[in-house]
Amino acid sequence: MIDVRVAGIEVCNELVRCFTLQPLQGATLPGYTAGSHVRVQVRLADGASDWRAYSLVELGPDVDTTQAQSSYRIAVRLEQPGRGGSRFMHALQHDELLHIEAPRNDFELQPAAGQGVLLVAGGIGVTPLTAMAARCRGAGIPVRMVYAGRSRALMAFVPELQRLLGGSLYLHVDEQAGAALDLGRLLGACAPHEQVYLCGPAAMLDAARAAAEAQGWPADRLRFESFTAAVPQAQDRAFDVVLAQSGRTLTVAADQTILDCLLEHGHDPLFDCRRGDCGVCAVPVLEGEIDHRDHVLGAAERACGKVIQICISRALGQRLVLDL
Ligand code: FES
Repeated sequence: MIDVRVAGIEVCNELVRCFTLQPLQGATLPGYTAGSHVRVQVRLADGASDWRAYSLVELGPDVDTTQAQSSYRIAVRLEQPGRGGSRFMHALQHDELLHIEAPRNDFELQPAAGQGVLLVAGGIGVTPLTAMAARCRGAGIPVRMVYAGRSRALMAFVPELQRLLGGSLYLHVDEQAGAALDLGRLLGACAPHEQVYLCGPAAMLDAARAAAEAQGWPADRLRFESFTAAVPQAQDRAFDVVLAQSGRTLTVAADQTILDCLLEHGHDPLFDCRRGDCGVCAVPVLEGEIDHRDHVLGAAERACGKVIQICISRALGQRLVLDL
């Protein structure tokens, strides 16, 4: 845990604020690699404390982020409705103190030698890609970015990215184009072996994964990170999970994930990202229909219905039997 103070607040647009976080008493902050995030302790509307992950923003090609840092910069989009994490962040004032965790990277930039990089951003998903773009520019790695958003007024960091990337930045504004970014076309036009890093909303990730699969891309050519954790949906209902190895039955509440239910009842399942991105929490399913909401399983694995990502996916029916 690291104590930091809010040293700067910048209003990027009506929904996005940027925060500069500095260590207390002149200490330095750990270095990080492009694509990293920090977890910030927030207070929710119901008074409970929780953690939110925010990517570290860097737009300077000459900054070596792997060395100790004097500050971090994060950007937070106000989510309405939401559980209150982003509202807490947007209510922060100068000099307020926060607890954060050291940076970690689940979305590492690993360009193959001599190959170019395409960064694809959707909305606030641009944040981890800023540091990747800066890193590529600083290291002389060929890079281009496609940045999509509903409205130009809500797209953060555009002038900074234009300065950094010049003609290698392409903006797709849905309102002006009259349609969302055509990911199938974009991926189909990539140079051979160009590596793609994508961060955006779940629908964008799913469309990109489907397009990459349809075009026969190897799985590691499209790397991605979503910025949404499991969010309860209006139609979500409680259901039972039967743990086949012990015969125990647990009820997963409508606003709870299977993972949280297992943790609450003293189980110790493997997990990592909690967003359906990493695949670590996969559990075999013996019976029951799955409502897949992850971003890791391919169409064939989903159709098989034999495995579930318990951090985000749910039951379609009243009961799932898990091989746990
Ligand atoms: S914890 Fe990463 S997919 Fe579930």
